[in-house]
Amino acid sequence: MHLLLTEPGDEPFLCDELKRTFVGAEAELLAPGLLRTDVVLQSTTPPVLAFARQLLPNAEPVSAASIREWSERLFEAVASRLPEGQPWRLHLAAHYGGEGAGGNRVRFIREALREQLRKRRRQRLRLLEHAETPFRETTSLVQLLLTAPDTGFLSVAPAPLPWQLRRCVWPFVKGELPVASDKAAPSRAFTKLVEAEQRLGLRIAADETCVDLGACPGSWSYVALNRGARVIAVDRSPLREDLMASPRLTFHQGDAFKFTPEASVDWLLCDVIAAPERSVELVLDWARQRRCRRFIVTIKFKGQGDYGKLEPLKHGLAALCDEFFLTRLCANKNEACVAGTVSPAETELAKGPFAADKESV
Ligand SMILES: C[S@@+](CC[C@H](N)C(=O)[O-])C[C@H]1O[C@@H](n2cnc3c(N)ncnc32)[C@H](O)[C@@H]1O
Repeated sequence: MHLLLTEPGDEPFLCDELKRTFVGAEAELLAPGLLRTDVVLQSTTPPVLAFARQLLPNAEPVSAASIREWSERLFEAVASRLPEGQPWRLHLAAHYGGEGAGGNRVRFIREALREQLRKRRRQRLRLLEHAETPFRETTSLVQLLLTAPDTGFLSVAPAPLPWQLRRCVWPFVKGELPVASDKAAPSRAFTKLVEAEQRLGLRIAADETCVDLGACPGSWSYVALNRGARVIAVDRSPLREDLMASPRLTFHQGDAFKFTPEASVDWLLCDVIAAPERSVELVLDWARQRRCRRFIVTIKFKGQGDYGKLEPLKHGLAALCDEFFLTRLCANKNEACVAGTVSPAETELAKGPFAADKESV
């Protein structure tokens, strides 16, 4: 059994996406924002589920009456089911009650587990990572999700499973990231860019070149300029005055869909308001033509009937990218975000379209 977390309210859309992804997929709603499914996950063709916030692969129901019992359950799993001598991460979370419910219990369980590991498996404790960076092939992940004080689900994913399933297992607890704040930014839209960078594990850096399509009023350009990057901003309307005055910003007034850079750029940033199929085709086109090394693009939906229009991205980008994700960000409204690193052309030819191996997990 696998568990999927989603934004409460998005459950039907995640079920539809599962059905589009796996023939005959069924999912059972366990609680708001929590679904179980028994689909067979292929580690070589890992699913991309834009409506899943987090995946807990191979989850088992568990119960424990006290903090001590919880930590014992965890200790058994951590001591016996993870590869020796490799890093691992631990996600403990509560999924019941309102905001903050179960927080203390989770903290006490973590402390009790640490204490047991300190006494009985010091080496394993030393290998516990507190990072939120993308998984490496050697990283294991243990997730405990409490659905009540004395019941929950335990998912043990020994390496390389978290890395294999990295398009839907996130290195953030429950797949959630706090939404950033910066009062000096021209709009709140910058929160999407910052979250996408965190999920990608890459940041726009000094001296890189970004094309920012649909850039007005300018908060994505603002982030890039603050990092010391050069920006080619494209919109029908100009950006905020101080950004327009930046010597590192070039403004092109016109249609974002007709813009082509003179040379390949480091980043395509795109937050244009457009029909989803147009934005989907734009990303695929930029990636096919190798016009950018990396991209972060918002796909805006007009209604709920649009969600299936994301599907061409999943297959298209799997063949064009070294890494990519497609997800609904915590900072997204009725939108999704697609981001990735485009493969150099030779790598794609050498790799072929899809791996033939059908190993399941
Ligand atoms: C959501 S806003 C972008 C916000 C921006 N990312 C920021 O952080 O401030 C969308 C922008 O897309 C622009 N836009 C929509 N269609 C466009 C097109 N075809 N060509 C250029 N710009 C377009 C709009 O003018 C608008 O400024």
